[in-house]
Amino acid sequence: MESAEKATAVLRAGGPADAVFVTDLARTAFSDYGEYDRVLPRWLGTRGVATVVAEEGGAPAGFAMLGMRTGLHLGRADAELLAVAVAARARRRGIGRALVREVIAIAERWRVRGVRLHTADTNLVAQRLFAGEGFLAEASRRGFYPNGQGAVAMRRAVERRRRARR
Ligand SMILES: CC(C)(COP(=O)(O)OP(=O)(O)OC[C@H]1O[C@@H](n2cnc3c(N)ncnc32)[C@H](O)[C@@H]1OP(=O)(O)O)[C@@H](O)C(=O)NCCC(=O)NCCS
Repeated sequence: MESAEKATAVLRAGGPADAVFVTDLARTAFSDYGEYDRVLPRWLGTRGVATVVAEEGGAPAGFAMLGMRTGLHLGRADAELLAVAVAARARRRGIGRALVREVIAIAERWRVRGVRLHTADTNLVAQRLFAGEGFLAEASRRGFYPNGQGAVAMRRAVERRRRARR
């Protein structure tokens, strides 16, 4: 059977005006793990965090957040994919993958060495999405989430962008 129709989502930068959407989706997607519906909206528009929102028909359908820890680094640092979620009604149509790819493009612009992430060790759907975009499992972290679940740490190297020649 032909897989579900491909999404016609438009990606845009997210910001504080997306707080209600991010709160609601974080509640349904992540409440088993901890109070991410409180934490994630606070990061909207925070320095060092980039948010990408996917819209379908003018309504938000998903988001991803990439963060950069501030501080001094010896050499180039890694960025962290803090969260990616797609509304249940819009899943399986390529929006999650588009969000992950956009986050990787942002990481390239930030000139970081790689992107790290954690996802629940039972979340095989997410692990499959990330593996398909080049992330490799690096470690298991027992009790990683506030509610006690374990996580798998994954990482993907980021291509070094050449500066455009003038
Ligand atoms: C994980 C999530 C973001 C995927 O979003 P999505 O828009 O449905 O994903 P896509 O349609 O882009 O699918 C990309 C790949 O993910 C995998 N995948 C997605 N849904 C899947 C499912 N139900 N079963 C198996 N694999 C699945 C597949 O490898 C898929 O590639 P394919 O379509 O070529 O088989 C979404 O399921 C979600 O929001 N889950 C809850 C939050 C979460 O777990 N976030 C990740 C941890 S931070």
